[in-house]
Amino acid sequence: MNPKSTIISDVKRIELNRITDHNGSISVVQNSLDIPFDVKRIYYLYDIPSGSERGGHAHKFLQQLIIAASGSFDIILDDGKQKTTINLNRPNIGLLLPPGLWRELNNFSSGSICLVLASHEYDEQDYLRDYNEFLVFKAIFNAK
Ligand code: TYD
Repeated sequence: MNPKSTIISDVKRIELNRITDHNGSISVVQNSLDIPFDVKRIYYLYDIPSGSERGGHAHKFLQQLIIAASGSFDIILDDGKQKTTINLNRPNIGLLLPPGLWRELNNFSSGSICLVLASHEYDEQDYLRDYNEFLVFKAIFNAK
């Protein structure tokens, strides 16, 4: 997947299996079966103060599956041409993000947990943290 040419419609909302009995539910994410990459890193955002905004960057190579493991929040996605806002509010729904999309996260509900499964280890070099730099990165695609 060329991160310079990814667009919002490349984002996939996936419904994870859900095994429920009277004691609760389990959802499972398996490498290569439920997602198109092997998970190298898991991180999660929690204790998020009301009104917080996170993200504000794009990745050059990283693919991610983002899950509202608890509560809800919005993800604003931007491919350099178009923007969309997606609300995540179920622990068995994941948003599969290809590389090359600017994202911001906000509207976190109290006690929410944003769980992220990532295709690579943490690498600051993979981040585009400046929006204009992001637009330059996408420029070949945007010139079309
Ligand atoms: P960042 O990815 O910018 O967080 P968010 O998009 O949620 O606002 O990361 C915030 C800080 O945490 C930054 O200093 C880098 C550090 N960090 C790591 O050290 N390892 C990681 O795996 C992640 C995701 C962040």
